[in-house]
Amino acid sequence: DNFDGAVQTDVLIIGAGLAGLSTALALPTSLNITVLSKADLEVCSSHYAQGGIAASLDKEDSVADHIADTLIAGAGLCEADNTSSILSAGQQAVQWLCEQGVPFTQIQQDDNAQPFTELQTANLHLTKEGGHGCRRVAHADDATGRHIMEALTIKAQSAANITVLPYHEALSLLTSSDNQCQGAQVFDHISQQQLTFYSRAVVLASGGLGQLFKRASAPNVCVGDGVMMAWQAGCRLANLEFIQFHPTGLALDDSSFLISEALRGEGGRLTCPQTGSRFMLDIDERAELAPRDIVARAIAEQISTNGLGYVNLDVSHLPEQFLREHFPQIYQTLLKLGIDMTTDPIPVAPTAHYSCGGVVTSVNGMTDVAGLYAAGEVAYTGLHGANRLASNSLLECVVVGRNIAADLPRYLKALENLDTVAIYDNSNLSALGIWTPPTLKDTQPITLPPSTDHESNTHHNVNIDANIAGITAKLKVLMTAHMGITRSAGQLAQALLQIENWQQQLGCLKSDPLNITNSLDITNSLDMNSQSKTIPYDGLAHFQLARQLQLATLIIQSAYQRYESRGGHYRQDYPHLATTPRTSVIEPLSKLIDD
Ligand code: SIN
Repeated sequence: DNFDGAVQTDVLIIGAGLAGLSTALALPTSLNITVLSKADLEVCSSHYAQGGIAASLDKEDSVADHIADTLIAGAGLCEADNTSSILSAGQQAVQWLCEQGVPFTQIQQDDNAQPFTELQTANLHLTKEGGHGCRRVAHADDATGRHIMEALTIKAQSAANITVLPYHEALSLLTSSDNQCQGAQVFDHISQQQLTFYSRAVVLASGGLGQLFKRASAPNVCVGDGVMMAWQAGCRLANLEFIQFHPTGLALDDSSFLISEALRGEGGRLTCPQTGSRFMLDIDERAELAPRDIVARAIAEQISTNGLGYVNLDVSHLPEQFLREHFPQIYQTLLKLGIDMTTDPIPVAPTAHYSCGGVVTSVNGMTDVAGLYAAGEVAYTGLHGANRLASNSLLECVVVGRNIAADLPRYLKALENLDTVAIYDNSNLSALGIWTPPTLKDTQPITLPPSTDHESNTHHNVNIDANIAGITAKLKVLMTAHMGITRSAGQLAQALLQIENWQQQLGCLKSDPLNITNSLDITNSLDMNSQSKTIPYDGLAHFQLARQLQLATLIIQSAYQRYESRGGHYRQDYPHLATTPRTSVIEPLSKLIDD
């Protein structure tokens, strides 16, 4: 189908993680599907997921209890109907993964028992994580994501109707004049060519944005480009300020390795390195298994005063054989780094882990743009509220991915019949009360201390290309320092000014989005002339950075305008919960420009 840099496919899926591949594998095989991966296939957050996938599978458990725990962690911001709909599909989702060949860890059998004949959800070993009232997390050792992704990747690669293309980076979405999504502009890193993919529908499954921060558990491709593509194509974004920090990233340099919450679930203790005391006991009755935001803040507080950059996670009191058997990946990884976790404490610190907000979507993955679906971390269904409950995200990927697969053929049929195609009318969201939308215009009247970055003021315009890598790195430091676990108006406003300064240096003002597209000549139209231009590497790097700066601005504005502390958003200057829980909604870019 390749002609002049243009490719035609029925369904274009942007992202080859769990949401993307679940959708691809569940869609009818009569459809021709193309799945894009920005880098190698395993470079996606799903692959690195450790703990597992939450679903109420135990006979003592119930969906109602799973919902209740999710709503508590979500601190008043979960969208109740969507939460209930997604969690109710948990058992079927895990069963579907079993059928795809995922080798979940099973419960130990008695020597005399009949061997299990097939992998069934009733036979799975369940682990426990923070915020869950009981054992509810199905897992494959401590490398659940890797095992799931290996199984699904084999299936996708052997499916005759699915083409998986690594090193293909989506740059922008194509929308027709009547606002239907019809494909994407894509940069092929192998041929160094820009390609146009035309499709009848697009599924955005591009993952999160952790790599806007200095320490992150996500791989380096996760910079939120899916969120920005959707926003530019006409979608609303919600709750971007709710970045979840995982309490226990491995605190060695900028390691992105996670020390699974399941270790705390099995009895791991957080201790102060100097005194050995368990500091969580004084903070929350749930101690180490309190919701993530509470544990992450407590660790950050310890680190701010202990001068070490870490606290200890101690599991040395647990049986050695149990640790080696249940956590083989963590055990081996640490051993290579000289830490024997059966005897030594593990140095841990919070790490940027998950974006609870994203592109506003229904439980069927529908967005504000017809023909554009979204699933996984890029999407906001309202399941995670102000603070995602551990292991709910893999579940959401599978449930929403499979829902999309069920809904999308109906959309294609409507397209053929030229019916009016439905888009997502999220009336529940308005029922929650729409937060004053952060606009691109209302950041100016803030008086600030001078920028901390003297270099950027003096070296103005000298060597923009060489500056790109430097600003990309400094943006991460800025986000971690100013948009991290605790925030304040002064810090956030200062960060906005710094970003504006960088945008000026790069020649891309945040209020003028066309400056971004100019640098690459990417148009959000079906313009045949823009197809096969070769993009110089620096042009691409400039485009990527400009988009990251714009996204960082939206995240910070959302945090600035939330005058309360709730879930993962903690404001030093507004430490209390507001009486009415509100969702922050950012109108699509086109709307902000029109106004
Ligand atoms: C973990 O294993 O601690 C991560 C689980 C999650 O983030 O859902």
